[in-house]
Amino acid sequence: MSLKIKVLTRFCHDVVESKGLSLFLEVETTPDSAAEPSGLAQIMRVVFRLFLAMMALGLPLMPALAASSNGQAVEPAIRFLPDRKLWVLETARTSYVVGLNEENALQHVYWGERLSSDQGLQAAHTAREVTSFDSTETMSNNEYPAWGGTYYNEPSLKVTLANGVRDLVLTYDSHEIRGDDLLIRLKDIRYGLFVNLDYKVFPAEDMIRKQAQVENRTTQIVTIESAQSGVWYVPPGQGYRLSYLNGRWGGETQLTRQPIFPGKFVIESRRGNTSHQLNPWFAIDAGGEADEHQGRVWFGALGWSGNWKLVVEDTPPAHQVRVTGGYNDFDFSWPLAPGETFTTPPYYGGFSASGFGEASRLMHRLERDQIMPGHPHPALRPVLYNSWEATTFNVNEAGQKALADKAARVGVELFVMDDGWFGQRNDDRAGLGDWYVNPKKFPNGLKPLISYVNGLHMHFGLWFEPEMVNPNSDLYRKHPDWVLNFPDRPRSEARHQLVLNMARDDVKEYIFGALDKVLSENNIEYIKWDMNRHLSEPGWPEAPVAEQKEVWVKYVRNVYEIIDRLRAKHPNLTIEACSGGGGRIDLGILERVDEVHVSDDTEAFDRLRIQEGFSFPYAPRLGMDWVNDVPSTNGRSTSLKFRFLVAMNGVLGITANLNKWSQDDFALAKQMVDYYKGVRETIQNGDLYRLSSPRESDLTANEYVAADGKQAVLFALLPSQQFERPAPTIYLRGLDENAQYRVKALDNKRRERAEVMSGSFLMHHGLNFELTGDFDSTSVVLERVL
Ligand code: DGJ
Repeated sequence: MSLKIKVLTRFCHDVVESKGLSLFLEVETTPDSAAEPSGLAQIMRVVFRLFLAMMALGLPLMPALAASSNGQAVEPAIRFLPDRKLWVLETARTSYVVGLNEENALQHVYWGERLSSDQGLQAAHTAREVTSFDSTETMSNNEYPAWGGTYYNEPSLKVTLANGVRDLVLTYDSHEIRGDDLLIRLKDIRYGLFVNLDYKVFPAEDMIRKQAQVENRTTQIVTIESAQSGVWYVPPGQGYRLSYLNGRWGGETQLTRQPIFPGKFVIESRRGNTSHQLNPWFAIDAGGEADEHQGRVWFGALGWSGNWKLVVEDTPPAHQVRVTGGYNDFDFSWPLAPGETFTTPPYYGGFSASGFGEASRLMHRLERDQIMPGHPHPALRPVLYNSWEATTFNVNEAGQKALADKAARVGVELFVMDDGWFGQRNDDRAGLGDWYVNPKKFPNGLKPLISYVNGLHMHFGLWFEPEMVNPNSDLYRKHPDWVLNFPDRPRSEARHQLVLNMARDDVKEYIFGALDKVLSENNIEYIKWDMNRHLSEPGWPEAPVAEQKEVWVKYVRNVYEIIDRLRAKHPNLTIEACSGGGGRIDLGILERVDEVHVSDDTEAFDRLRIQEGFSFPYAPRLGMDWVNDVPSTNGRSTSLKFRFLVAMNGVLGITANLNKWSQDDFALAKQMVDYYKGVRETIQNGDLYRLSSPRESDLTANEYVAADGKQAVLFALLPSQQFERPAPTIYLRGLDENAQYRVKALDNKRRERAEVMSGSFLMHHGLNFELTGDFDSTSVVLERVL
């Protein structure tokens, strides 16, 4: 028998946080060892001694390979191939490869379907210089290009050193692999300026997160003028198509598709928050080859709720399509003192070989499993009532109690009082900033209302707009210097309000204290955090001039900090982010809030497109959808049932004035809320299949399949039908061909009447419904029986 013991060092993510190092023990024996009991005992003794030695050193033991849930050894997600100087990052179905080229620069090599082996992968090579006008730096796909040398494309980093040098060339310094994390450290060829590129692989979600940290190890201040999180490259080729989301207040997340032409196409926000106008998400497919269900799609999203920028670039002559993303460099400047670091927002990327539908499902899975509060098992969202559209600012104890009674009757679980409860807030001209309970409207404070709501078995939630102040408020009269402003310049109002300078620590502490007080004094389990205008005149006169532009980033970081601290102090608190509807929807805010208000346009027909666009990057469970009153936007009226079935494609909420509802409305609403509760786990935690799009068809059809495959639910919504023209057949997806499903219909619109149908029938024969006239709708639930 022979025995070989190797003791290796290995970084482990969990361990590295506390100790930085763990020992990795591997014992190899020759086959005959098993037949020799004394040999085996010898091995065990050696292992035991090593174990004791490591315990004595305080070093934890790590298994050789991570074990999957079925006990099978799984490949590590990240490999370094020293012979070719390549790093291979692997998810369940994708590979992402970067490597060092001849210049020792980090270069992108491959992103797409998972490669079955490393065979064929070659070391990264700098591109050949064809002319003096197209440098090798510009023609090579630098993974994190700094502005310097002869690089002319969009840079990931641009700095000015204290001595005036504005040239930065980054080459490889070192790397560490820690479980699913890879850190590649780059360094300038001359100065002590480092960039730590942090990659996190999410194997089950087929996604990767990039983030960069700039580290100043020089002895002088380095001024950062552009700091991007990184670049996503798609394979070389032409004819690519971009999908992205644009919109406006009351019309957010409209999906738009266009060819990627030579040059740059920029989507961004310069408004201080994410914005209604553009959203930090992109998807690229090869020349329109992909659709919902098939085709190659590369996609990505930024997690930042301030000024952001995505540059989709196809710069000649290479025509290499890439998307650079990170902080917006507009009005950006960050002086970095010696010893300091500066970190960019997370930039997520993923690849789907099965179209846009799968790309969305991967994003949704990532949000549920890895990003949102409570991940990987976030609690189901309750059915909500919000009084805003019923009362606007006219809230008082009696009126809210009357609405609460009625909301409880239909099965609402969370009752939210919106704007108007505080300060001298009777309309939008006064009160913001004064977070005390209005004594006229609530002479006994909020407690009697909250106890009443709790007595009806509902949680209570409250609206705030923490970042804002009306000039007509006690707060502004006391602290006019607390708003963003440039000395002797106008302070532009929007909705009669100014923006508090949240970058200031005294303002941050005031806002934290004000919200904490209301939350500590009352049983409030939910806040709706609103923001009803964008930043303007972003001056910070009290800060040194060189640091004043930091306001954009510090503002958002402090907002995040307040939310994080409130959650830590009030563990039962859940939060909805709102910015006049969907002005603050991104993966940064979604790390810390449970849901977002999708839009102030709550009209059901308009919502079909808004919600569809939202669902490309964001899981339906993250979007709050309200059933409103009719006639609504555009004077349009739809049935209560249609409004409910639209709002069920997310988190169901109601804002209609319940005082105006008939007995029939209450009966229908109760039936609808019960129906939703029976399928919400599937909607909130399941897989979404967009079967028919409101952009392409009269019919909108969405199907949700439960994670365990035991339930599926289908919504079919037909805003308009031409005379005698049957609604299109709906072919379900994501079912088990061989399984049997019991079909439970919400109503009698189903044409195929069998009670039990096979997965293959549902997916290949499909279902047909009697949908007629305007705004007809239906839904069916499929319960797997075999
Ligand atoms: C804008 C929000 O989107 C609405 O739902 C409501 O909360 C109002 N603000 C209140 O002012």
